[in-house]
Amino acid sequence: MFNKLLKRNIEPIIVEYGERAMAVAGAGVPSHVAIIMDGNGRWAKKRSMPRVAGHHEGMKTVRKITKLSSHLGVDVLTLYAFSTENWKRPKMEVDFLMRLPEEFLSNFLPELIEENVRVEMMGYVDNLPAHTIQAVQKAKEATKHNTGLVLNFALNYGSRAEIVDAVKNLASLVQAGELEPEDISEEMITGRLMTKELPEPDLLIRTSGEVRLSNFMLWQLAYTEFWFTDTLWPDFNEDCLLEAFEVYQKRNRRYGGLKGEEAN
Ligand code: FPP
Repeated sequence: MFNKLLKRNIEPIIVEYGERAMAVAGAGVPSHVAIIMDGNGRWAKKRSMPRVAGHHEGMKTVRKITKLSSHLGVDVLTLYAFSTENWKRPKMEVDFLMRLPEEFLSNFLPELIEENVRVEMMGYVDNLPAHTIQAVQKAKEATKHNTGLVLNFALNYGSRAEIVDAVKNLASLVQAGELEPEDISEEMITGRLMTKELPEPDLLIRTSGEVRLSNFMLWQLAYTEFWFTDTLWPDFNEDCLLEAFEVYQKRNRRYGGLKGEEAN
């Protein structure tokens, strides 16, 4: 990790985020961080504002957390921005959420480019509005050669549907006589998911006090460390991310086996 940091200019981290951030960066940050950004509606309600005002404020948190993640050396940041179940919300709220990637990217694309961030998206594009797809496509194209943080928006994403699609694909190979059922492996499923190019998440964060996965990366999170906070997403800030990373750094990841002394 220090090697990675030495290759970068570490001074801006201290200047901008302080010694605490520097210590976190030096102790090894999670490579892939996934976040369920929850609590926008409650944030707005507490202030007698419409729910969409909470989503708008949440967009500002996305900017802050992307920037700090990038500076700390996180490789992938996956943000659950819209689930396949979120279409059940009132049309006005859905329309607003579908405009947010556009607003975010039109305001912050230059900053993302400057930060060497590569924008990606996972989810079902077919029923997304054209303007949403265009905004994401433009950002993907403009950042495709960037080599820093991958900012992966989960947009119209649903994990069960994703797994069903992978299974259907394998079933069609079996039907065509190209695959024996007993040869189906975990890798074959992993390789058919929308995350196939990405490492599995090391840390999952969910804000707002809810303790559930809500159909988010069910396969990929098998060995991920979870961290839940009562903080609502619009209030989530740099200190919250640092706290999550500090907790992660104290965790003893065993992947079903034993570690250290216990293993002998
Ligand atoms: C859940 O909060 C949040 C969402 C469904 C939307 C998340 C979207 C953002 C944070 C903005 C995304 C920004 C970009 C750039 C795409 P909720 O509405 O369920 O909150 P509640 O549980 O308090 O009602």
